[in-house]
Amino acid sequence: MQKRILPSLLSAPFYCLEPAVRNLETAGADVFHYDVMDGHFVPNLTIGPLIIKSLHNRLQSRFDVHLMVANPDVQIAWFDLPAVRSLTIHVEASRDLASDLQRIRQRNKRAGITLNPPTPSHSLDPYLETIDQVLVMSVNPGFAAQTFLREALPKIESIAERREKMGLEFIIQVDGGINQETIAWVRDVGADEVVAGNAIFGAANPAAAYTYLYDKLQGKDIRT
Ligand code: DX5
Ligand code: ZN
Repeated sequence: MQKRILPSLLSAPFYCLEPAVRNLETAGADVFHYDVMDGHFVPNLTIGPLIIKSLHNRLQSRFDVHLMVANPDVQIAWFDLPAVRSLTIHVEASRDLASDLQRIRQRNKRAGITLNPPTPSHSLDPYLETIDQVLVMSVNPGFAAQTFLREALPKIESIAERREKMGLEFIIQVDGGINQETIAWVRDVGADEVVAGNAIFGAANPAAAYTYLYDKLQGKDIRT
């Protein structure tokens, strides 16, 4: 399983988005996390598909769309764009998770489910065999730069164990509060793709911050 750091555009400088993304592409990033918030399911309002459409022809990267919207059935179609790699919906938001996941897959996108911090991992059970990725929230969704919630760790670990037992191959993602320390915690319990906003774009040198997290996720700091 390829281990990736997904820089989150939520913390990117929108006044110069293209060079900011390109800078991280040069450092090796190829999938960017894209937070869609509706001001209803979460207490913040962000972006629709416009930014992906306007960046699409100028960059190589693809986008991992995190839909933090109530009833995502309508918005799924809005993100049926070539640059979208994956679409993740919240188990707490969807009215009909099975058909929303099917809607995503019919569009040849990777389909994901997200769990908020209080949501137990067994709510994934009916879907484990049909999903491409699980996103474990390690903050309550809505804002960047929050503190990592440690209760995400046993949750990630148990999802990774179940995946192994069942012989499945979905990606395990983590989102929220990742920094130079917490990256090792999530790596050690089985995360494959780790979202990082403030730790990258809030750094003096975002490319160096990306590389630091990437190397740590690959275990380059572990002595053998
Ligand atoms: C929070 C978003 C995250 C956010 C993470 O609701 O879903 O993707 O960008 O930001 P950091 O990495 O700063 O916690
Ligand atoms: Zn997110």
